[in-house]
Amino acid sequence: MKKLIIANWKMNGSLRLLDEIAAATQGQFFANAEAVVCTPAPYLHALGQHKSFTPKTGAQNCASTANGAHTGEISAAMLAEFGVSYCLIGHSERRQSQSETNAMIGGKLQQLKDHSIIPVLCIGETQAERDNATWCAVLGEQLAILANQNPTPIVIAYEPIWAIGTGRIPTPNDIDEALAFIRTCVTTMGYPAGYLRILYGGSANAENAARLLSLPSVDGLLVGGASLVPSQFAQIVANAADTNWRTMRA
Ligand code: PGA
Repeated sequence: MKKLIIANWKMNGSLRLLDEIAAATQGQFFANAEAVVCTPAPYLHALGQHKSFTPKTGAQNCASTANGAHTGEISAAMLAEFGVSYCLIGHSERRQSQSETNAMIGGKLQQLKDHSIIPVLCIGETQAERDNATWCAVLGEQLAILANQNPTPIVIAYEPIWAIGTGRIPTPNDIDEALAFIRTCVTTMGYPAGYLRILYGGSANAENAARLLSLPSVDGLLVGGASLVPSQFAQIVANAADTNWRTMRA
């Protein structure tokens, strides 16, 4: 399976950045890696129409209900019309600042599934939960929205909250342990292995990407800050293509 790199612009970017990312990533990597850029919603149209933008179109959020009287919300049906193929849900910033609950995130999951958009479910523990060894229970609770569902392809992004935007990343052992736990939880819920990709996210950048991607448990990366720097993002995608190429030759 190709390694998957997803850029999360958060509330950043511009039309100019779209052009710069298009130029930096043009063509050459995508036979051996998959790349997605999740822009703020106002840029989705320009991204979809862009003549030389090779990464796929991703969104950062969708409503937990179908179209209706929900001022300011954006539905999965609308995202699908704009060619969105992946959508983040459950990012820790939204869980905190928008008080998103697992029930709301479950609604978003259903909406995305109904419109054939692949959900990228973000989960992760706080520093305190890592320190007091309750991280398994926390991740298990966040994953519980996947239970009793008709399985469809899904991406899980493991993003320890303490690693986001801090420059701190877990040890390779800790990443392997968390990803193995996630894989077991999700496959036990009936998701076939081929439907599941698990990304690492949190301070991934051009310097550490090759190392992170070389971990066999890591199917790809969710990249925030470094995805706003075209040369860094292009380098990370190149690392993903290279790691995959080496795996194929081994
Ligand atoms: P970061 O953000 O790469 O800037 O740490 C990752 C994320 O929040 O998705």
